[in-house]
Amino acid sequence: MPIARTWLLALALLAGRGEAQSCRPELQGIAHNLAKGRPACQSSIYPHVIIGAASKAVDGNCGGDWFKDGTCTHTQQDTEPWWYVDLGDQYAISAVIVKNRGDGSGKRLEGAQIRVGDSVADHGKSNPLCGTITNTSLGSITTLYCNWLKGSYVSINIPGRAEYLHVCEVEVYGTKMEDQC
Ligand SMILES: *[C@@H]1O[C@H](CO)[C@@H](O)[C@H](O)[C@H]1NC(C)=O
Repeated sequence: MPIARTWLLALALLAGRGEAQSCRPELQGIAHNLAKGRPACQSSIYPHVIIGAASKAVDGNCGGDWFKDGTCTHTQQDTEPWWYVDLGDQYAISAVIVKNRGDGSGKRLEGAQIRVGDSVADHGKSNPLCGTITNTSLGSITTLYCNWLKGSYVSINIPGRAEYLHVCEVEVYGTKMEDQC
């Protein structure tokens, strides 16, 4: 194998290893998930031996079984529950991927809104809308294209009802503002 190709392959493998598993394998090692490992916050935490912390949505683990995998978030039944991640810098967001819980209660995510903006004073509720989750089948993976909405926070807001909010992974893709002409 020519050296250049070997080198490229090594780089691809390195990138693949450094990047945790994406919910969409085709993005593996190609796109950088801006949300992974970033600080996340949510309206409350469901009291349970399995800790449904907000950080479980950005842990790089796409497992969808709340009980078996223990890698999903889980709030209490809050009025208009919310979750958000702080990207640490302003990005133009191209896509957000949300992995729904796979072992039950998938319907709870119905109508959940993904929003992008620079303030979470109201937990993202009034930030520009990227899209709404409509496929609530168990373990569904929703990809929403945000048309380069700008912001340093990506939130999930369930409007108009009291609900449990749980997601198993949230991936955010985009580009740093300086990179754009
Ligand atoms: C919803 O998601 C499931 C699981 O990912 C998929 O099989 C199904 O085709 C989706 N339904 C629609 C209407 O997109």
